[in-house]
Parts: sequence; C-alpha cells; structure tokens
Amino acid sequence: MSKQDNFRKQVKSIYSILVVSFIMVLLIGALGVMYMIDPSVFSYKKDTPDSKVVNVSPENDDRDKIENGIHLRTGLKDGEGLMTVVNNCTNCHSAQLVIQNRMNQERWVETIRWMQKTQNLWDLGPNEKVIVNYLVTNYPPKSKGRREALTNIEWYPLNE
Ligand code: HEC
Repeated sequence: MSKQDNFRKQVKSIYSILVVSFIMVLLIGALGVMYMIDPSVFSYKKDTPDSKVVNVSPENDDRDKIENGIHLRTGLKDGEGLMTVVNNCTNCHSAQLVIQNRMNQERWVETIRWMQKTQNLWDLGPNEKVIVNYLVTNYPPKSKGRREALTNIEWYPLNE
C-alpha cells in the first residue's frame, strides 16, 4: 500500500467521523427544538388530566353555594366574615377542625397564635378581627351540658 493510499484512508475515516458527529449534533438540536416547542412530545404517557379542573373564578358561584345557612363546600355556617374564614382557615386543614372546636374569643385568639407560632399560619392582619368575630359568633362554647331531651319519638314494641 502506498503512502498516498494510506493518507487517503485516514482522511476518509476522519471525514466519516465528522459526518456522523455532524448528523448527531443536528439530531440533538432538532430534538431540543422539538422539546422547546412542545415538551409533552417526550412524555411517555399522554397527559390526560385525571382530575377535573375546578373553575375557581369568582363568577363560578356554585363553588361557594350556601344552602340552609351552610356553606356547602366547607360546611361552615353562613355569617359575616364567612369567606374570610374560608380563605384563611381551610388551606391547611379541613374546615371540620374549625367546626368541631367551640371556644370563646380568648381561646380562639390563642389557637390562632399557636398556629402562627408552630404551624406557619400567616399574620392575618385586619382579617384577624373579622375571623375571630365570625368564630365567636358562630362557634361559641357550648353552654348545654348535655343534649336536649328527645321529642317526637316513634316507639316500637320489643318482640322477645
Ligand atoms: C398554615 C396552616 C394553617 C392555617 C392557614 C390554619 N391552620 Fe389551624 N391548624 C394548623 C395545623 C397544622 C393544626 C394542627 C392539626 C392537627 O393537629 O392535626 C391546626 C389546628 C387547628 C385547630 C385545632 C386546635 C387544637 O387545639 O386541636 C383549630 C381549631 C384550628 N386549627 C383553627 C384554625 C382557624 C380558625 C384558622 C384560620 C384563622 C386556621 N386554623 C388556619 C395549621 C393551619
């Protein structure tokens, strides 16, 4: 094999390496562009949302429907300051936690302070007054020691 032939072979192989790398760069670039245009192209599964998107716009009044004095979504009683309570007190835990607790003003404020100190509850600012007022009005301490006597009972005979 002549020297010239050898040289040609080397040039040829370098040339093909260059061509292959060039094609690879082109491919990767194309994939990159595709990804930028629509990242979902590369997701294995089609992203079909499995939960319905809830329309949270204020016009959607279904979401904050009140029936028989109860805010349906949370179960809280309707009253002055209801939405302030819904917006500040149902983010971390269910409104049930609020409903189950009945306290006087002092203890409601204490509970809020406790959450602010230990649970990252934010400063409620002027809303605090509105919230505490709502809570004391709608969820005051229960004064009845026991349930009311049952009335209107349909008794049925026990068959032995
Ligand atoms: C930043 C999150 C967060 C927010 C917002 C929040 N809380 Fe809480 N709250 C908690 C956590 C955490 C607990 C403890 C839950 C548990 O014990 O499972 C709690 C517990 C409670 C309890 C039960 C306290 C007890 O002694 O058992 C009540 C009542 C309560 N929250 C009322 C409210 C009210 C009213 C608001 C609105 C002002 C509110 N929460 C807003 C985090 C929050």
